[in-house]
Amino acid sequence: MLIQNAVNAAGQPIDVLCRTGKIAALGAGLAPLLLPGEETLDAAGRTVLPAFIDLHCHWRTPGYEYKEDLETGSRAAAAGGYTFVNLMPNTNPVMSDAAAAHALMEKVETIGLCGANQTVSITENFDGHTLDHLKTLPESVKYITEDGHGVQNAAVMAKAFAICHEKHITIMSHAEDSDISPWDYRLAEDIETVRNLYLSEYYQTRLHLCHVSTRGAIEAVAAAKYRGAPVTCEVTPHHLWFTKDTLDYRVNPPVREADDVAALVEGIRAGIVDAIATDHAPHSEEDKLKGAAGMVGLETAFGVCYTKLCRQEGLPLAALSALMSTNPAEILGLLGKGTLAPGADADLVLVDLAHPWRVDKNALHSKSHNCPYDGTTLYGKVRATIKGGKITYRAE
Ligand code: DOR
Ligand code: ZN
Repeated sequence: MLIQNAVNAAGQPIDVLCRTGKIAALGAGLAPLLLPGEETLDAAGRTVLPAFIDLHCHWRTPGYEYKEDLETGSRAAAAGGYTFVNLMPNTNPVMSDAAAAHALMEKVETIGLCGANQTVSITENFDGHTLDHLKTLPESVKYITEDGHGVQNAAVMAKAFAICHEKHITIMSHAEDSDISPWDYRLAEDIETVRNLYLSEYYQTRLHLCHVSTRGAIEAVAAAKYRGAPVTCEVTPHHLWFTKDTLDYRVNPPVREADDVAALVEGIRAGIVDAIATDHAPHSEEDKLKGAAGMVGLETAFGVCYTKLCRQEGLPLAALSALMSTNPAEILGLLGKGTLAPGADADLVLVDLAHPWRVDKNALHSKSHNCPYDGTTLYGKVRATIKGGKITYRAE
């Protein structure tokens, strides 16, 4: 397939020739290379970027398929410009073994719209203590997390870091001291962030901090990186967009103050923040009414981040593309993804940067509609997603 009449992140005209799932050539005016029978896609002046990669996503299989399933999750990802997601293990049963994780990844592969890595829990069944399953994890499991909770006991977490150092596993941490969060969620995040950063440095174990949301946490990450700790971190679109003055909505960590948002934006500019991850957390209406935390995010992430970071804060589009594609690919060790280069995977997204659009929660592909952006006007609309040279989503 030849994508014609696109522009790159710098606004220069570019065509992209995709063959056998890879990018075969890139450059202006590639029409002469077209072979008989090869398809063309007219980008009509829109911007082509490497497709997005989500480090933090909940698709709810097994156990909570009434909120999202692999099919609807895949469709939501494709509609958001994603071709790969990293799935969290807070399912029912909890994902605690490699066989279950691999079986799920295969099912996602069969659907064919979006690749996935399934993470495994840090403690067995999130019991907070048992680490035996980590010792027998095969080498194919590279990422573990207790997302949704922090690991409360410091000794347990220290042992997990020690094991993961030996096994070259990255810990993705949800930093929350749950004895503190009911009365001070800022302290709860900051104190567990500092503990986990310390353990990462002490054991030289790779740590990725999920949904960093406070000034204190981002400053602690900056200091740890300065000292050379093997640490990366993500922020979510919602922690960049909302403050507690603009949104009353349950999500963990909660939306913060304007000063925290400013710290996250400074962290992005300074290269302290490595990635933007959605924490796509689908819930039914009933579960939201009962207090479930989280919001869907795959289909609004680019629009929210382009509007906030590029249009309002003047961040170059190339920097946003690094946060949503290149850096997540590197963190997950996905060779050939997250980059626009000859020989790389033909995983691409076409975005319209010029026209405003309104978020309509009823038009989402996700099974759940817990979307507090409903009715918001954004710039940056995904027009098409291409995975392995095949169109996985096209806006009407
Ligand atoms: O708001 C959240 N929802 N934060 C989390 O950490 C977990 C997530 C979920 O699974 O619903
Ligand atoms: Zn999460």
